[in-house]
Amino acid sequence: MSVSATDPTIAIVGASGLVGQEALSILASRGFPATRLTLYGSERSAGQRVEYCGITIEIRQLNRITEQPPEYALLCADADTAKCCRSILSGTSTILIDNSSAYRLDESIPLVIPEVNGSLLECRPRFVANPNCSTIMLLTAISPIHEVFGVRSISVTTYQAVSGAGASGLEELHAQTRARIDDQSQEPRIFPVSCAFDVFEHESAIDPATGFNGEECKMIAESRKIWDEPGLRVLPTCVRVPVERAHAQAIMLELSRETSVEDLQEALRGAPGVRLHAGDRPLTPAQIAGTDDVVVGRIRVDPDDARRAILWVCCDQIRKGAALNALQILDRLEDARSGSLALH
Ligand SMILES: NC(=O)c1ccc[n+]([C@@H]2O[C@H](COP(=O)([O-])OP(=O)(O)OC[C@H]3O[C@@H](n4cnc5c(N)ncnc54)[C@H](OP(=O)(O)O)[C@@H]3O)[C@@H](O)[C@H]2O)c1
Repeated sequence: MSVSATDPTIAIVGASGLVGQEALSILASRGFPATRLTLYGSERSAGQRVEYCGITIEIRQLNRITEQPPEYALLCADADTAKCCRSILSGTSTILIDNSSAYRLDESIPLVIPEVNGSLLECRPRFVANPNCSTIMLLTAISPIHEVFGVRSISVTTYQAVSGAGASGLEELHAQTRARIDDQSQEPRIFPVSCAFDVFEHESAIDPATGFNGEECKMIAESRKIWDEPGLRVLPTCVRVPVERAHAQAIMLELSRETSVEDLQEALRGAPGVRLHAGDRPLTPAQIAGTDDVVVGRIRVDPDDARRAILWVCCDQIRKGAALNALQILDRLEDARSGSLALH
């Protein structure tokens, strides 16, 4: 995004949260002008002041957003707030980019990873959904492989940071870790069990019909929608680990044709949004926290079947898994602005 008098006006809804704060940090690093930015939250954060590029911006209560409808509203709050925003901004020309799960599977709403299906933005849709963070990192990493070798099925185990559950998840890990070291107990509030010094299946509700939890169901349905392959075979197991920030995934792919480690590296080298891990240090989530790319390491091919490959992938889920992906969507919508005839 270039910085000029034609910079769009952007509202961040949920500016006090982890994703909202990350979006602000990315905009600040780009030098996006404070005068084009407004911040919103619930009555809990309304009135709080946020430092942005040396200027103080006050968070306003969300119902005030219609006083000055922005060109873009970056929704960094929960699904109910996203629905509320869509309703109150329906009579305006604001384009909404939503980080929540509210509309991801709505047929009429594009679900976009710019590196994968960014062409859906060329018609400048009025509402765009950001996929789940685990889906974003999975498909950003494997779409370049799919293009060359054809992915027939995906098995993936996730190792998800507690900050995926928002600021309160991170606070819970800190509080429980301190308590445990001090030989005290701290009851879980956000997660079903203690998150310090343990791992557990993702806390989202289990679908009794299939046994998959909510996070796993999102990965299956969203991957099928983004690749436009309703029959895509995806088998996820989603797990929480006591990591502050950035997720990891062990991904096993069945391909349509044989491959080699070198061929897979070649497919991934230079792919947008992807970086091949280099060096002797093991690739870890903590190591890549705060960076933009989806990082791929430990590429292996089954010695007994060269159509089966395994990858170890890490990605900052607050950045590329949410705030950065949303801002890349905004960038692409801005790029499309001059060529667009009408909004849809
Ligand atoms: N954390 C991640 O890694 C991640 C990754 C991908 C997607 N997401 C999605 O991104 C969204 C934000 O996640 P987060 O991690 O940033 O959560 P968070 O840290 O808990 O922040 C939630 C934000 O939503 C705001 N909010 C809540 N109710 C509101 C209301 N009625 N009106 C206006 N604002 C309201 C909160 O403002 P107050 O302070 O005023 O309550 C807060 O700023 C969620 O939908 C989440 O599922 C998160």
